[in-house]
Amino acid sequence: MNIVLLGPPGAGKGTQGVVLSKSYNIPHISTGDILREAVKTGTPMGKKAKTFMDKGELVPDEVVVGIVVDRLAQSDTKKGYILDGFPRTLKQAEALDAALEKIESGIDMALYFEIPENIAIERLTGRRVCKSCGANFHIKNIPTKVEGICDKCGAELFQRPDDRLETVKNRLKVYELQTRPLIDYYTKKGILKKVSGALDVKDLFKVLSQIFSDAKLA
Ligand code: AP5
Repeated sequence: MNIVLLGPPGAGKGTQGVVLSKSYNIPHISTGDILREAVKTGTPMGKKAKTFMDKGELVPDEVVVGIVVDRLAQSDTKKGYILDGFPRTLKQAEALDAALEKIESGIDMALYFEIPENIAIERLTGRRVCKSCGANFHIKNIPTKVEGICDKCGAELFQRPDDRLETVKNRLKVYELQTRPLIDYYTKKGILKKVSGALDVKDLFKVLSQIFSDAKLA
């Protein structure tokens, strides 16, 4: 199954992407994670991307499309994949469809995670990430046993630079302007499913599993 996770920052796409990837044994491809890794290792692409990411703006389409097309060419995507945070503009969605058409493939379903803005803001500003293993926590919703220390590997936690309130507000604005039109794009194709991103992590996973099973995708 070839799945796109769509929705505003903080809707829970990354969290479900990880869980779904483990359960269905298909790769979770997050453009945000790939870009952050490039920033961390200081590649030329990472240095360019950082200037956009720190402001909560989108990285140029040509950069991101190239990353995804290369990643989808890897053999672990043959059984399917979960795209998280891509596409994010109409140009990206069209480029993805064109690339998939060439290999007689396509997206089976776009899952739209709907969430009220106040919950998204609360989740993002409270998120803490492990410096070493990248695990995500939340100061209230998913607290660690010891404050500031990762439960999984014991390393220190940090706040993503783009999770500060002013940048979060800009990311939500950018989402409304540039990404929301994709809801229409996938609705017209008849492959959009709306779910509540406000549900508890386990409850949302159950809803998603039921959707896949009803659609005979898994
Ligand atoms: P990216 O990393 O994709 O950020 P995002 O879409 O803004 O996604 P988030 O990770 O913030 O939100 P999410 O919906 O995944 O929620 P999560 O599960 O993490 O992109 C970062 C930047 O990279 C962009 O701003 C842009 O610059 C660039 N970029 C990336 N892709 C691009 C593209 N295609 N084109 C151009 N530029 C691109 O959860 C958030 C928090 O909530 C966590 O603390 C989590 O623990 C908590 N949480 C999650 N689910 C629940 C739940 N059900 N209940 C309670 N808490 C929950």
